[in-house]
Amino acid sequence: MPESVSPQRQTPDSLMLYGFWYRVLPSGQVSGNRLQKAVLLETPLVIGRDRQGLPFALHDACPHRGMPLSFGWFDGQQVECCYHGWRFDAHTGQCQLIPSLTADQKLRVDRIYAGSYPCEEHDDYVWVYIPEPAPVGAGFTKAADSPFPVPRVPIFSEKYKMAHLTADLPCSVDHGIIGLMDPAHGPFVHHAWWWRKRESIHEKQKSFEPIPNGFRMSAHTPSSNSAPYKLLRLYANADSITTTIDFVLPNLRLETIRAGKYWFSSLTTVTPVTRDHCRIDVVAAWNLFRWVPFGSELLKFVFAKFVRQDQQTMEKQSEGLKHHPHLMLIDDADRPAKWYFQLKAAHLEAKRTGGEMKHPLPGPVTLKWRS
Ligand code: FES
Ligand SMILES: [Fe+2]
Repeated sequence: MPESVSPQRQTPDSLMLYGFWYRVLPSGQVSGNRLQKAVLLETPLVIGRDRQGLPFALHDACPHRGMPLSFGWFDGQQVECCYHGWRFDAHTGQCQLIPSLTADQKLRVDRIYAGSYPCEEHDDYVWVYIPEPAPVGAGFTKAADSPFPVPRVPIFSEKYKMAHLTADLPCSVDHGIIGLMDPAHGPFVHHAWWWRKRESIHEKQKSFEPIPNGFRMSAHTPSSNSAPYKLLRLYANADSITTTIDFVLPNLRLETIRAGKYWFSSLTTVTPVTRDHCRIDVVAAWNLFRWVPFGSELLKFVFAKFVRQDQQTMEKQSEGLKHHPHLMLIDDADRPAKWYFQLKAAHLEAKRTGGEMKHPLPGPVTLKWRS
């Protein structure tokens, strides 16, 4: 049977991609001299903010005997380990003091580093760049700079509002991502009396095109049951509304909706925490409802509801996945999920060979499904 009619068996491989920026914590959770624990790609981190307000990220294990630095103290500049009092610069991780050394002991303290990671704050989140893991047993040195900038939420006017949402998912990053791009669950998971009924399912056709490291659902008038669309229709002429949805490796979903001078955009990420746990973070920005009381609250309510529905669904799904069932991806509804796995494989292959990445989409493609 040709591939298009036989469902393809495919198991998410749960591989986590190193060498990218990841959202680690919402900005509001990093304040004062508190040392905040976090995990990205099974890497333990301690996150804090210096006296000037700049965030930092260190490996959460002291290079002396492995005590988590998050149990230590922070004075706004240096982190002190709670076990033997070694002190480290919060940004570079360079050791500044070993209290047990006597005046005649010549150990080069400045050659010792706690691991540190590039760390920046944008659009309500602290981001950390996670490089390829160092060879086992290699000590830390000064962190290398990240080769590219932090992904940003698209903004189209000077004044706008911004809000974020976060939800933990008890599944691998792959299930989180394909759950996010899956168009067929809408009628079954996202129904609400004020939104849509399961019976509103109808045939859809969408064009996709390749973009660097990902694919784009080409600019189109959004389907009548998409969330921001219904709100935007209150504002602008429905025919003037266009939306673009991009997926970009390793975990980025960008949605942009524009209608004349009004716009709505979001950057959603699914972040691998451990092999079987991920987190979804949505940051949305918009210039609608800026003068309407409760407009923003309404938008946040709709988004919170959707994210909660996805979260509850994935909690249920994780019960089934515990038993490692065989899985399948079907055309056309699961084609974006197939592209995701192909992109990931192509990225890893290009890294292995040092060559150009072979994009799985040769050109524009039209997909059809009912949702
Ligand atoms: S374990 Fe950190 S100073 Fe000894
Ligand atoms: Fe969903």
